[in-house]
Amino acid sequence: MHPKKVIVTGGAGFIGSHIVDRCLLKGWETIVVDNLSKGEVENIPIGAKFYHADIRSHEMEMIIAKEQPDVIVHQAAQTDVQYSINEPLEDASANILSTIRILELAVKYGVQKFVYASSAAIYGTPEEVLINESHPKHPMSGYGVSKYVPELYISTYAKLYGLKYGILRYANVYGPRQASDGEGGVVAVFVDRLLRGEKLIIFGDGEQTRDFIFVEDIADANIAAILSEHNVIVNIGTSQPSSINRLVSSLQDCCEVKTRVEYRPARAGDIMHSCLDNQQAIIQLGWEPKVRLEEGLWKTYSHRLSQMKQMAKSAAHT
Ligand SMILES: NC(=O)c1ccc[n+]([C@@H]2O[C@H](COP(=O)([O-])OP(=O)(O)OC[C@H]3O[C@@H](n4cnc5c(N)ncnc54)[C@H](O)[C@@H]3O)[C@@H](O)[C@H]2O)c1
Repeated sequence: MHPKKVIVTGGAGFIGSHIVDRCLLKGWETIVVDNLSKGEVENIPIGAKFYHADIRSHEMEMIIAKEQPDVIVHQAAQTDVQYSINEPLEDASANILSTIRILELAVKYGVQKFVYASSAAIYGTPEEVLINESHPKHPMSGYGVSKYVPELYISTYAKLYGLKYGILRYANVYGPRQASDGEGGVVAVFVDRLLRGEKLIIFGDGEQTRDFIFVEDIADANIAAILSEHNVIVNIGTSQPSSINRLVSSLQDCCEVKTRVEYRPARAGDIMHSCLDNQQAIIQLGWEPKVRLEEGLWKTYSHRLSQMKQMAKSAAHT
């Protein structure tokens, strides 16, 4: 479909703000709803309309009723795995109940399509080298459960009310604007430590692998899901596992900065290998990842470097 108006929940956050960039480039009227619990006003691209609101609040209904969007791209979520284990009720409320509420509003106000940010966390410990969409869903945290249950509600709403949808299961996303304190934000953490000249800490022998995907590729996948005529449930990753050791050496090479690397014992419960098979996204969405790891790392590093220089300049003026 070709929408005129799109609401992006969590559009002040890392991934959401890049999706907003792409929607604006498409010429779509783009509206951000974010409670700024994690996101930053500075992340919101110029040209987007912003509502500082919680998606669970009554204001959300007023926003959807007033704006009448064609599409809702739902990125807002509680994303901390440890928090979901410590506070499962809060996590379920933030991720499951809030999504049901937005689905209700979507149906009530005639939204045509719902695009949802799911996660590789729904699969749990991989049983195959490459995880495809039919891999068993055995999440290992409240977060994995609370990202998966909304998928079931979304496809049920499609059956009950004809709501169209795109469900995108992201791998490990990295890129500019990612907070360095976040879960899964290993690239952001390493980039910050490199810039401060601090050692990089690796848990285990560094041969564990992850599927690192650049945030602009994720944003493109969301646009493809909006434009698609079909309902899709697809992995969005690279199909290319990268070890943490490779990540570190690529980062140090492409940024031409070296710091010491310290190896510490592996943490209990850490998954050894995780990589999403992206074949279905290629077939069903006509999407594929474009940004190579080295290029993405360089873009992430350069962005953070100029941000830090800017911060230092502002501090010097105050
Ligand atoms: N970053 C990753 O590697 C990754 C991987 C898989 C899935 N995801 C999913 O992608 C989505 C975006 O993640 P991100 O990494 O950009 O996280 P983020 O924390 O940067 O962005 C989430 C945004 O949602 C906002 N938000 C949270 N709760 C809200 C609420 N109740 N009301 C309004 N706004 C609220 C936050 O302020 C933040 O701006 C999430 O749904 C996450 O589960 C992320």
